[in-house]
Formats: sequence, structure tokens, C-alpha cells
Amino acid sequence: MYAFKIKGENRLTGSVSVKGAKNAVLPIMAASLLTAEPLHLKNISFLSDVNTMNALLSSLGVCVQTNADELILTANHISSTKAAYDFVSKMRASFWVLGPLLARFQEATVSLPGGCAIGARPVDLYLMALTEMGADIRIENGYVIAKGPLHGAEIFFPKVSVGATHNTIMAAVLTAGTTIIHNPALEPEVMDLIAVLKKMGAQIEGVGTKKLIIRGVSKLSGATHSVIADRIETASFVIATAMTKGKIEINGGRQDLIGAVTDLLLPSQISFQQTDHSLIVDATNACLKSVPVITSEYPGFPTDAQALMTSFLSISTGDARVSEHIFENRFMHIPELQRMGAHIDIIDGHSVFIHGVPELSGATVMASDLRGGVGLVLAGLVAKGETLVKRIYHIDRGYYHLEEKLTQLGADIQRVHLDD
Ligand code: UD1
Repeated sequence: MYAFKIKGENRLTGSVSVKGAKNAVLPIMAASLLTAEPLHLKNISFLSDVNTMNALLSSLGVCVQTNADELILTANHISSTKAAYDFVSKMRASFWVLGPLLARFQEATVSLPGGCAIGARPVDLYLMALTEMGADIRIENGYVIAKGPLHGAEIFFPKVSVGATHNTIMAAVLTAGTTIIHNPALEPEVMDLIAVLKKMGAQIEGVGTKKLIIRGVSKLSGATHSVIADRIETASFVIATAMTKGKIEINGGRQDLIGAVTDLLLPSQISFQQTDHSLIVDATNACLKSVPVITSEYPGFPTDAQALMTSFLSISTGDARVSEHIFENRFMHIPELQRMGAHIDIIDGHSVFIHGVPELSGATVMASDLRGGVGLVLAGLVAKGETLVKRIYHIDRGYYHLEEKLTQLGADIQRVHLDD
């Protein structure tokens, strides 16, 4: 088991690079199942979730080739349409092969993901949309068994779901007839999936609006695509710089994708400068101020940055409420932050109240999920003394060697092996 050992109180300075977004590359990788031709992806970070998706696609017969930061996926000899429990239980995004497999092969057997650390996370919306499109779906032995053929349909999502939007779009692009999706997710990662699908020959209108119109085609081709920058990794470096009162340049960073985050930092005297290829964050004159945080769908404040902002608010002047509107159980990191000296009242599963304190103190803490784990790392960067963040396999799911990037910025952080 590995952990991060952090000695706090170093300002972050220098430059760092962010690569393609985990949440964009995963659905795009699933989209490789829609064509027999190669899908050539660039700007890839080989995080553990990307490796898990590669392993899943390989188990289906997809040829996976990697080279530096590129990935070529060729689904010309699919040998199985079954996504096993081992993959889906490890990473929920594995479930997203359901739509493309069903559209192309008229059948798919995909393990149900089950619960997860941040809430129940059902898949009812995925199944509702595919059923509307004519799929015959039954659940047996923990698996969704779906059979086609599919047809175009008009789908109304009662709630915005990123994953259900990805899955339905992927099913619809290769399904005869017109599919209309009302209330799709508008996250930049959905836009990136659509951009790839269009390069592959998909016909999609209404992109960026609350009504997508998809005219199914009988065949899609291969494509080459550079994956959109990871806005949550960018936000992580931005908030870490704010907390340590540093100044950094984030190559590949895009402020337009994280406006809801940077807006909340402006009252703390943190400035941002966007260049052609980077985002410069200057917090050298910062005076951290508490601000309320309400998570919501894009372009609102991202739930994936909530834990990061909770750490920021822990050491800001004043009190602030954090309201989590997307997931029901996303405060698992709070008891660990409290152990570092944060003053936080948990009001209920959807909100906490944070009373800023002047400083945190290092402690041994445990990551319980990906973003909560990074929140603890940020707290460790400013805490007095030493912090040990355990269970960092959660963090490795979404960040490629986070410790190397933070070390490059002047942090004192090491990956250490623990016996237990
Ligand atoms: C994706 C992101 C995750 C991000 C989340 C919200 C990836 C790999 N993961 O997760 O990082 O935090 O979007 O931006 O891209 N829901 C239902 N029924 C469904 C599907 C979802 O009720 O069938 C609910 C969920 O429980 C949750 C809400 O809808 O409360 C939003 O979830 P969703 O947008 O689907 O999240 P994911 O796609 O799983």
C-alpha cells in the first residue's frame, strides 16, 4: 500500500502541465467500439482509470496500442460483448460500453456497477433511454443483459446525468432513425465526446443546447483526436496555488472551463491570466476569503472540485456553507479534515458549514475517494508538520503521478510504501 508523505508550508511556484481529461477520455475510449477502424487519441495521461478501460476493451477484443501520450484503439475483431464485474466494480465508467456494444452488435451484457463511496449512483436513466430506443433489457445475476435492434426515439431525461448522456449519444449515433435527447448534460467532456463522434461521421445537431438531435448512420469511421484538457486537474493546481499563496503556470490549463471555480477565488485577491497555451495563477498577494459553494451541473461549480474547495475554505477567513447538489454522500473527507484541525459542522448529507481557521496541523489521514483524497493532499500542503495520506490508489485513478507534479512546483511530497 502506498501513501503520500507531505511536509507542509511550501509555496507552489513554477510550471506544470495538464493532459487530457480523465472524464473525457473514458467515454471516448468506449466510443472506439462503434467502428472497426482505428481511433487515434492524443494528449492521453495513462492514469489507472485509463489503464482499467484499456484492460476492459482488450477483454472485448479491441486492439490497444500505446505510444508516449497516444492511444490507438481498433475494434475490428470483437470477441466478446460482455463487460465483466471485475472491471465495472473497479470503475463505474466501464458501464459506458453498454450503449456502443448494443448499437453495433445488437447485444451487450454489462455488470451493474453497484454502490460507490460517493453515493448510490443508480443507472436507471441509462436503462430508461435504451428501453425507449427499443432495447430488450433484463437483469440477471448482477448483469444487465440488453438486446437490440435499437431504433430512434425521443428521450426526456428528468435529471441531468453525464454518464447517461454519453451512453445514449453513443447508442444513437449508430442506430437507424432520429433520436432526440432532451435535457442532456452539457459538461465539456460531453462536448469532447460529441466532437470525436462527429469526426467519425456521426450526425448530431443542437450541440451545446438542451435538445440534441441525432440522425443515426449505418457505419462510423476511425478518427484522430486530441482529448480536451482536464479541468478538474487544472482546478486542483489552481486551488493548491491559492492555498499556498504561490504563483504557477499551468500548461494546457483553460480558465474558460473552470470559470465557476476561479470566480470564487477572485475575492481572495487571486489573479488569473490566460495565454494561448497556459493559465497563469498568481496568489502571492492572496488573502483567503470564505465564499459559499453550491455544486451543480456545468457551467455551475463542479462537484468534482467540491472537496478541493472544502480544504481551501478550511483555512479561509470567515464562515461558509458548502452545498452538494449532485451526489448524496460526498463528504467522506470531512472527518479526516477535522482531524487536521479544520472546524466543520456536517449539517446533513448535502451540506456542511465551515468555520475557517488560521492553520491546519499535519496528521495521518485516509483517502476514501478520488477527489476527497486530493482535498486531503491540498490540506497537507499547507498544514504545519507532516501529513500522511493513505489509500492513494483512489488518487491514482484520476491523477498521473500527482506527487511528481507537485514536487516540480516546490512541494515536499513523497510516495512512500507502507506495510499495512
Ligand atoms: C460523471 C463523472 C464524475 C462527476 C459526475 C457529475 C466520469 C467518469 N465521472 O459521473 O466525475 O462527478 O459526472 O459531474 O465522467 N443518476 C441517476 N440515475 C442514473 C444516472 C445518474 O439518478 O441513471 C444520478 C446520480 O446518482 C447523481 C447524478 O445523477 O446523483 C449525476 O450523476 P452522473 O452525472 O450520471 O455522474 P457520472 O456520469 O456517474
